[in-house]
Amino acid sequence: MRMAAGAAPGKVVLFGEHSVVYGRPAVAATLGLGLGAVAERDPDGPTLRVPAWGLETHPKDGKRRLDAIDRAFATAIEAAGPLDERVGITVDGELPPGVGLGSSAAFAVSILRALAEWRGRPFSPAELLAAAEKVETVFHGTPSGLDHTVVASGGCLRFQGGSEPPFKAIRLAQPVPVVVAWTAREGSTKAAVADLRVRVEAHPAVYERLFDTMGDLAEAGIAALERGDHAELGALFDIAHGCLNACGVSGPENEQMVRIARRAGALGAKLTGAGWGGAMLAVAAGDVAEAVVTALEEAGFEAFATQLGC
Ligand code: MEV
Repeated sequence: MRMAAGAAPGKVVLFGEHSVVYGRPAVAATLGLGLGAVAERDPDGPTLRVPAWGLETHPKDGKRRLDAIDRAFATAIEAAGPLDERVGITVDGELPPGVGLGSSAAFAVSILRALAEWRGRPFSPAELLAAAEKVETVFHGTPSGLDHTVVASGGCLRFQGGSEPPFKAIRLAQPVPVVVAWTAREGSTKAAVADLRVRVEAHPAVYERLFDTMGDLAEAGIAALERGDHAELGALFDIAHGCLNACGVSGPENEQMVRIARRAGALGAKLTGAGWGGAMLAVAAGDVAEAVVTALEEAGFEAFATQLGC
């Protein structure tokens, strides 16, 4: 039977979420968790199934209201088309949806890769980025490009919209030991970005200075990553978290996760992603990482230890 497959990893943002939307540099890295998409012939297609998220959708079914995931799927089909046969896509994997770990970008990139294999013509890297951006725009409104760029390119990247090229690979001196934790989010990335925009318009000069500081932290973070200085990286995470709090995107559970990680011995911790709940990233290795994971799980959060840059 005819079949095609594509995969993409999740991501964490180390520095510059939100300030990247205002042109400042950001740093992101791919995670060991991801999504895989399989394309198969389906006479009812195009159909989408994401069993891990409890989802089955037929975008052509006029009786249903089209929500973001239907429209995103339809956008991916259009970007890959025209297809010679009706296709059904099944997406699966361990990446939790909607918590700031790049699930929408991984959804876009894994589906696009499967569709490209299905049609027998791969996307060039630039075509893949352009198509993934269209899908991300359905989910996020005005994405900076950070999420789908790192998810499609892999590794650890410096990203700055408007610079040419917008992304540059960062050479890590050594893999970075981290703990990632998450909880449900109270709103979407689109809403968090729009909400911050209202505050920025009310206090533009203050936020411009804050975004400059966040950009400086990203550059200092890159230097720490290139030196392999994880104590400095952790200290910069703590400051970056304070900046995100000043942006109004840190919810009570972000604060709780960060506090638990620091108390359990992490070298530093910050929210990662768009905020309002969602994910946390802490620098922690070995026994300390285990203690951080245990403390977070005891408090009811999902958590795991991993390394960035592998
Ligand atoms: C989300 O991972 C990062 C944000 O800066 C949104 C974006 O860059 O599009 C909050």
